[in-house]
Amino acid sequence: MPQINILPKHIAELIAAGEVVERPASIVKEIMENAIDAGADKITLEIKRGGITYIRITDNGCGIDRENIRRAFISHATSKISTADDLNAICTLGFRGEALASIAAVSRVEVMTRTEQESVGTRYCIEGGEETVIDDAGCPKGTTLVVRDLFYNTPARMKFLKKDVSEGNAVASVVDRIALSHPEVSVRFIRDSKDVLFTSGDGKLDSAIYKVLGKDFASTLIPCDYELEGVRVSGYISKPFNARPNRMMQYFFLNDRFIKTRTGMVALEEAYKNSIMVGKFPACVLKIQIAPGAVDVNVHPAKTEVRFANEKMIFNAVYYCAKSALQQGDTRVQASFSQKVARQFMPPPTEGKQIRIYEQQLEKIKEETKPKQDFWTNTTSAEFKKEAEKPKPIVFNDNSKFEIEKNDEPNLIPCFKPTVQEPVPASETKPEPVVTAPIAEPEPVQPIAEEIQPELEPYRVIGEAFKTYI
Ligand SMILES: Nc1ncnc2c1ncn2[C@@H]1O[C@H](COP(=O)(O)OP(=O)(O)OP(=O)(O)O)[C@@H](O)[C@H]1O
Ligand SMILES: [Mg+2]
Repeated sequence: MPQINILPKHIAELIAAGEVVERPASIVKEIMENAIDAGADKITLEIKRGGITYIRITDNGCGIDRENIRRAFISHATSKISTADDLNAICTLGFRGEALASIAAVSRVEVMTRTEQESVGTRYCIEGGEETVIDDAGCPKGTTLVVRDLFYNTPARMKFLKKDVSEGNAVASVVDRIALSHPEVSVRFIRDSKDVLFTSGDGKLDSAIYKVLGKDFASTLIPCDYELEGVRVSGYISKPFNARPNRMMQYFFLNDRFIKTRTGMVALEEAYKNSIMVGKFPACVLKIQIAPGAVDVNVHPAKTEVRFANEKMIFNAVYYCAKSALQQGDTRVQASFSQKVARQFMPPPTEGKQIRIYEQQLEKIKEETKPKQDFWTNTTSAEFKKEAEKPKPIVFNDNSKFEIEKNDEPNLIPCFKPTVQEPVPASETKPEPVVTAPIAEPEPVQPIAEEIQPELEPYRVIGEAFKTYI
């Protein structure tokens, strides 16, 4: 049996740091989240060389007082929770007390911070987990944290970093998510001395989207806001004809935290079924708000994956939110059939009865394609029957504008030759009881429905051309 060693503190810290600090983007995420938890409404981030050599984050939050500055860099030291029960309802972005300790273990960190109550601030330096300086500093209220030379003491980790540009792009994605999740915070991002993002912090999600994702993207969105069973989903979703080639533009936030949620993604895409082409994906910036006790965020080191107490609730809330927004805000170019195209579908002009049959068929198609109320379990449980009334009625979108203009009847010439004969009154169609020789009697007339029905196929969206579904 080999000897079991208790690892020295600095090695244990390096191992633990690996969980939290994977690349510059992880550092930026942790420090920006700390700033938000500290109540900041202005955050400035500057990076150089993709954040590998230099990251500086300044906030105007509550600051850290001299007494607590050392503690902030000790593992499992946090001001955000204190009991096991607190873990059941986390209301802050951080809660583990791991981030600063992990960052300091693998880089050179310098902090300048001051609280409102202090007249003099503190400058604190820590390198590879070892304190080097603690001193007075003249600084405004809030915290500035500078992280230099990431992985200077762990060359093995350094090797796994990508090129500066890729690391810088990863940082930019993190900044985008933070800016979108907290529109009330003004975020400024300077990358290699260039200002690349500056959000107003006016608290409006649409202004944040405009700044972060651009004017063109913002103009393709439909607002949505929906509440179901204590889950509120709000934000923006893309119009169906602005579908994207991938899921990169699907942003989900849970209680103002960016998350990856398969449930949300599937629910969103289900809502777009039959509205967008196969292989295309909707975009969204959706905020899900639920009671903190209904979700466990303590699942993944990066805190981006969460476990919901009831996934079905989340699914249904996202689904109905998107579906009702699509119904109200879908401004797609609707299929308006030219006479030439319409002729192919139209019944012969003389057959008023056929029009009724056609309309009945269309109703049937609409009925069949109506999504079932409970998409999660595909059941109609009592609970969901009750809820069925809540969502707004779902209209079969794609053909909703396709109506038969009965007034146009005389002008429409069918492109197929009608083989249907006029129905004959029932009395005339009664077969003769005895027939000895073939008589030139008319054949019993088939009911029109039987002849026409096989000709008419249910309409389905088969493609998209010039932003029109056909
Ligand atoms: N910018 C800041 N302003 C004020 N206090 C801060 C700031 N950054 C960190 N702190 C304090 O330092 C403590 C430790 O921060 P750290 O990020 O390590 O842990 P955490 O945020 O509590 O949890 P997590 O590891 O999940 O991020 C925080 O709990 C907070 O009290
Ligand atoms: Mg933190």
